[in-house]
Amino acid sequence: MSIAAPTPCDIRAYRGPDDATATFDVFQAAIRQTAASVYAPDQVEAWAGPARTDLTTWDMRRRKAATLVAEVEGVVVGFADLTPDGLVDMVFVHPRAGGRGIARALLTAVMHDARAWGLTELRTFASRSAQPAFERLGFVVVADRPDNMVRGVAVPNAEMRRYLA
Ligand SMILES: CC(C)(COP(=O)(O)OP(=O)(O)OC[C@H]1O[C@@H](n2cnc3c(N)ncnc32)[C@H](O)[C@@H]1OP(=O)(O)O)[C@@H](O)C(=O)NCCC(=O)NCCS
Repeated sequence: MSIAAPTPCDIRAYRGPDDATATFDVFQAAIRQTAASVYAPDQVEAWAGPARTDLTTWDMRRRKAATLVAEVEGVVVGFADLTPDGLVDMVFVHPRAGGRGIARALLTAVMHDARAWGLTELRTFASRSAQPAFERLGFVVVADRPDNMVRGVAVPNAEMRRYLA
């Protein structure tokens, strides 16, 4: 990946419903552009799902998951979900902001929140695209999952964990 200077970003709590549209756009672009370099077109299509959809359920999930949002100059460029049991359910950064430390800033904030909640460990199911970033943030692979299925298509990922010392 290209190396660029970290971009200062603001990390804040998800506010929805405006954030629903912005985070869904980030999700779509991150899969259809960034992750498309490591997954085949049918895998990308299955994972991304419909490009347009009613965002009511999406919005409810983000609120339930204590989603954090990253903004650069007021524009949403990434988001991460943390569920109360320590699952980092989603980390997505828009390709136009990729490689500039946005995921690091999000995951650092997620770890801060997790410690504040009294959690001692985080886990995630990292895509092939995200595995190197999670490794840089101290996560280790505990199980490869070549047969992970999404909408009837195998989209391999890996279960990773990080202890919160
Ligand atoms: C994975 C993803 C979230 C990373 O976001 P990002 O903002 O570009 O990542 P950062 O710039 O914060 O990188 C964090 C660290 O990981 C490293 N890194 C990130 N991607 C990397 C890659 N593909 N290869 C090697 N190192 C990588 C960076 O060098 C950086 O290391 P450092 O801070 O120690 O210098 C983003 O690429 C993305 O949205 N990918 C597609 C969607 C996806 O797979 N999401 C995860 C679902 S589980």
